[in-house]
Amino acid sequence: MSSTLKSGPSSPRPWASLLPSPNSIGLARVDLLNASLRVGRAKDNDTVISHPSIGFYHCVIQKSVQLDGSPLAVVHDKSPFGTYVNYSRVEPFGYQRMANGDTLSFSSSPDAPLTYTFITIDEPFRGSGGFGARYILGQQIGEGGFSSVFQALDRQSGAKRAVKVLHCSTTSAHRQTSLSDALREVQIMQNIFHPQVLKFYAAFHDRQTVRIVSELCPFGNLLSLIFTLGTLDEASARVVTLQVVLALECLHTLGVVHRDLKSENILLSSIDPLHIKVADYGLASFLRPGYTLQGSCGTPGYIAPEVRFGTKGYDSKADCWSLGVTLFEMLSGSLPGIQGSPFATNWAALPDQLSDAGLDFLRRLLETDPRIRMRTRDSLRHLWLLSLIYFPLDRAFPFR
Ligand SMILES: Nc1ncnc2c1ncn2[C@@H]1O[C@H](COP(=O)(O)OP(=O)(O)OP(=O)(O)O)[C@@H](O)[C@H]1O
Ligand SMILES: [Mg+2]
Repeated sequence: MSSTLKSGPSSPRPWASLLPSPNSIGLARVDLLNASLRVGRAKDNDTVISHPSIGFYHCVIQKSVQLDGSPLAVVHDKSPFGTYVNYSRVEPFGYQRMANGDTLSFSSSPDAPLTYTFITIDEPFRGSGGFGARYILGQQIGEGGFSSVFQALDRQSGAKRAVKVLHCSTTSAHRQTSLSDALREVQIMQNIFHPQVLKFYAAFHDRQTVRIVSELCPFGNLLSLIFTLGTLDEASARVVTLQVVLALECLHTLGVVHRDLKSENILLSSIDPLHIKVADYGLASFLRPGYTLQGSCGTPGYIAPEVRFGTKGYDSKADCWSLGVTLFEMLSGSLPGIQGSPFATNWAALPDQLSDAGLDFLRRLLETDPRIRMRTRDSLRHLWLLSLIYFPLDRAFPFR
């Protein structure tokens, strides 16, 4: 067994290093100088590890940065042999974040002879206690299927934040999936900067818990607003819809499909004027151009027909259906489905005074055939939204 670091274009200082554990005989220290490092058995990798449990092109370690500027690594698994972070397997061919002090290995056993500790240069070790050092946990403000959401106070800036605490399953089969799902949520949030996308600040994780710190939306979610008011008037519904469309257009352009768009996942950062943030990236997925997603996921009532029943896969148009359901809910106070046939729309529930442009907009989103359903880019050119683009969003206030 041998491990060598091939020389590449060098920068003056490594941004991180992989330190072999004491029992990893034959592994050498690897200094990460470039933005990515390819590890594998084949001779053209940056780091070559000649061992039967290592694939020819086993994994890639990519440099990333957190919002506070501190370095972070993302491990991209590329081999059926398995890559492990903190002895949990990275989803095959998936991605996982690796922070200062985490272990990288090629087996789930802590005694495995091929184990590194990942250290970022010049950054103090955060460990699982890092959250408490920076934030004070406050009262609970929300509850999701897999998480509890709390207010938190940033000790450094004094700003109020929200922290989503995800408890990952402790059974080994589950923990891995949910931990990697939670880390994918972090990865997606970390990479999207848009005024209508919930702003990510930091994430902390240990073996059982992932804590995601984001901006605080003090007015709760859109579902509670609909409950309070019964329905939203058309002008307010239009302002919310435009903002959701802008967020979705950004996500879809970056190759991200939300897959769980619904009123509960649209948060209110301000009520007068009405400003929203699209949240909850727990089911979001990356989608490469020309590919489709498989697997039914989402929330009953909001899920698109091709996601629920389709065999050919689906793409970002699934979010457009869910947007249509959410708009229908804002205007009527109920979901569009009819008992027994959830993908038929109960058009009679809509208010009589709804404009023709509003009805047309809704019909184009609640189109069961995704091939002819309106995509977000086209919805921005629809007459119903066009008029709003020339007016400031600050006009809308649902309580007037
Ligand atoms: N940043 C925030 N500011 C204010 N409230 C929030 C924030 N994030 C989440 N919440 C509240 O907590 C609820 C649950 O959050 P979220 O949807 O992210 O969790 P989840 O476990 O993924 O939910 P789901 O049941 O949809 O899977 C939200 O509907 C909202 O009411
Ligand atoms: Mg949610």
